[in-house]
Amino acid sequence: MFEQLEKHAATARDNLAKATSVDDLENWWRQTLGRKGEVQLLSRGMGELAAADRPAYGKRLNEVKGELEAAFEERKAELKQLELAHKLDAEAIDVTLPGRRPAAGTLHPSTRIMRDMCRIFGDMGFQIYRSPDVVTDRFNFEYLNMPPEHPARDMQDTFYTTDPNVLLRTHTSAGQIMAMREYCPEPIRVVLPGMCYRNEQITARSEIQFHQIEGLAVGRNITFADLKGTLIEFARRYFGADRETRFRASYFPFTEPSAEMDISCMLCAGKGCRVCKKTGWLEILGCGMVHPTVLRYGGYDPEEWSGFAFGSGPERIGMLRYGMTDIRYFWGNDVRFLEQF
Ligand code: PHE
Repeated sequence: MFEQLEKHAATARDNLAKATSVDDLENWWRQTLGRKGEVQLLSRGMGELAAADRPAYGKRLNEVKGELEAAFEERKAELKQLELAHKLDAEAIDVTLPGRRPAAGTLHPSTRIMRDMCRIFGDMGFQIYRSPDVVTDRFNFEYLNMPPEHPARDMQDTFYTTDPNVLLRTHTSAGQIMAMREYCPEPIRVVLPGMCYRNEQITARSEIQFHQIEGLAVGRNITFADLKGTLIEFARRYFGADRETRFRASYFPFTEPSAEMDISCMLCAGKGCRVCKKTGWLEILGCGMVHPTVLRYGGYDPEEWSGFAFGSGPERIGMLRYGMTDIRYFWGNDVRFLEQF
């Protein structure tokens, strides 16, 4: 019996040394010191001993039990220490590594150009007037002095809806009459920013959708000098005070007289290059005095009222300012392009 006790105790110590996890430890405890464990069984076997041997055996059994319990606690502490060391090792953070910067978005170049332009006109007293992208034929053409069959309609290839009277505006001029009818009989000074659509071949210079910023001023004494003064001041503020400007006579059905405005080419400083096609000038917008017919459609008597209007393409203007070579970058969604803003 005594021998058996020592043998069990030795095996139990060996097994304890082999325990490498909390699970192992728990199993060991159950097998060895638990209610149905070996030590318990050994103490039950005491009845088979001669009465004289029992006290010595009981004493030794208690000692063994105490030793095993102590060994258990020791092993447990050891394992805990190991586990902690392991965890620290695995979760180690190298604080000297450079951080990863989260990608922050920026304004789309188009939005940025539009805002810069609108801010300049805003500083000059123009309010922003919002008008819809989908309009009837009348607002886009007829009220702008382009009755059906008018040849100028062909200048702007149009996207129609299933209803031939409803279309995607080809220019922000479509909002002119809406503004007039809302403000009449008060004077007007507004800019109309928005997307325009034309059913055209897409090239480096033309897209099927693009923004425009329309300007419209109506008052009792507005002259061509006001138009020139406003636009020259805009060009100075947007492109810089050293840019030269010029107006060329042009034609639009809804303005009379009409003009186009150029600025001196910033790439070659007027000497002539590929971008300005050797002319030294870059076209930035169309403009003119509001046609009497248009004023009348808007509710204003052209005998008493006059006005000027202009229409500019922010993408084109931005291309000139930032030296971009292809308008298709704007909707190409290439982050390498977009990130530069
Ligand atoms: N709507 C004209 C265009 O898209 C531009 C313009 C606007 C010209 C207002 C004169 C006055 O080409």
